[in-house]
Amino acid sequence: MDLQQLDLFAKDIIRQAGQRIRDAFSYDLQVETKSDANDLVTNIDRETELFFIEKIKEYDSSHKILGEEGMGEKVESLDGVVWIIDPIDGTMNFVKQHRHFMITIGIFVEGVGKLGYIYDVMREDLFCAMTGHGAWYNDTPLRKLKPVKLEEAVIGINATWVTPNKKVNHEKLIELVRTVRGTRSYGAAAMEIAFVVSGKLDAYLSMRLSPWDVAGGIIIAQEVGALASNLKGQPFNLLMQDTFMIANPSIHGQILAQYVELK
Ligand code: IPD
Ligand code: CA
Ligand code: CA
Repeated sequence: MDLQQLDLFAKDIIRQAGQRIRDAFSYDLQVETKSDANDLVTNIDRETELFFIEKIKEYDSSHKILGEEGMGEKVESLDGVVWIIDPIDGTMNFVKQHRHFMITIGIFVEGVGKLGYIYDVMREDLFCAMTGHGAWYNDTPLRKLKPVKLEEAVIGINATWVTPNKKVNHEKLIELVRTVRGTRSYGAAAMEIAFVVSGKLDAYLSMRLSPWDVAGGIIIAQEVGALASNLKGQPFNLLMQDTFMIANPSIHGQILAQYVELK
């Protein structure tokens, strides 16, 4: 497997897909809902996923594709070469704000993450990594994360989780919010992950994410020393929904031990 060549190909189709999405603002988006009234999907999410499938199958028909919109085949294992794709992460931002949405892709070979990408479509910014070779923000190498104290940390968290909910003790998360220097919520998991791997956030946690939200980011995380896990401290399950946290290694364990109590 020539990973350098695969990397060039992946970057090329990500940038092409980005251009197609930017062009799509000149015509009407068809917005529909999925699992609930706030779970949005558009014709562009689906068309972008199909674009990736067509290009990847042309490149190598043996590669499997697990995409959020389910336009690829059913993927039940990470055997072989598997692309895990979110064609637009942050669809609500895409529809409402026309910014702050990402294309994110993780490429796994026999279950091992090899290439990770998070592409901010409107800024044309690419965060990427090749396992064992480092991570980059456009052409600039990303450095290993420096330790941070929890009191000086800025964390990404959705306000939902600090209100009464079925998944987690919100009182403890209120304590976390009071302890840290600040909180942010960007509405696109991949964007928050990109910010953690580049030191713009120190942690990001969520009670429910899907493989395509995190696959690319987990691969980038390894290269900068960020720790990614579910909220039990175990590896995130890449074949189903799971809880998730990515953090600077100096505060990952502390947040889990002192502030996360799952129900
Ligand atoms: C969503 C975004 C959002 C996160 C949701 C995801 P989508 O992805 O990443 O920030 O809180 O859980 O489903 O639907 O916009 O691709
Ligand atoms: Ca997503
Ligand atoms: Ca999506």
